[in-house]
Amino acid sequence: MMMSKIPQHIAIIMDGNGRWAKEKGLPRIAGHKKGVESIKQIAKKASQIGVKVLTLYAFSTENWSRPEKEVSFIMSLPSVFFSTFMPELIANNIQIETIGNIEALPEKTQEAIAKAKAKTAHCTGMKLCFAVNYGAEQDIVMAMNRLREEKKEGEISLIDLKSALSTSIFGANQNPDLLIRTSGEQRLSNFLLLELAYAEMYFTPVYWPDFTVEAFDKALANYAKRDRRYGGLKEDHVNEN
Ligand code: IPE
Ligand code: IPE
Ligand code: MG
Repeated sequence: MMMSKIPQHIAIIMDGNGRWAKEKGLPRIAGHKKGVESIKQIAKKASQIGVKVLTLYAFSTENWSRPEKEVSFIMSLPSVFFSTFMPELIANNIQIETIGNIEALPEKTQEAIAKAKAKTAHCTGMKLCFAVNYGAEQDIVMAMNRLREEKKEGEISLIDLKSALSTSIFGANQNPDLLIRTSGEQRLSNFLLLELAYAEMYFTPVYWPDFTVEAFDKALANYAKRDRRYGGLKEDHVNEN
């Protein structure tokens, strides 16, 4: 695969944990637990092929409406994930980031996240960003309110807005090149609405706990064949007029 065809920023809606478990006669939380293993495999692979940013949708602002037991299990996963995966994160030079309202998470979850960020702060390779308690609509509103304070009467430009979104931490890689959603659903579910303006979308029926490196390779191969035009023309057609 040509290097230029590797997406710089990949965003993934990790969906289908519950259905994966249900089909095996297991409780939904077993799917979330297994899903953590997929995260490890995909993060390592992405980092190895030179992806700069991998943003994973882990918990949406709407997911609070799930049963309390399921929510609290999900909230316990960051500490499990980071404690078992930290050596590999550091060995792969991966830096942990988050987007979303972290301050509203349970204290223990916040601590696990803060610790992981501190321990990987020196890592200069891929940014592995978890969207936790994240909603794109809320992120846009937060950005607008911040800008209103700063700008007073002044006009807000697109650059202002983009730089006030939580994804501005990715700099030039703010916009995902490729969006993957597992489990067969084909919707955005309040994920990165502005940043996905020109993203290539890839949907697969595979449930997240079954999303292997091979399945990821398929998505990358599919992306490599896409013709991204951004409203312009394909390169070999520009001189045809
Ligand atoms: C995705 O899997 C994980 C989260 C939303 C936290 P789901 O839990 O949504 O699994 P399904 O969609 O019910 O199968
Ligand atoms: C989106 O999945 C959120 C995450 C993957 C964290 P959901 O399962 O919550 O989305 P809907 O409800 O099917 O749209
Ligand atoms: Mg779901």
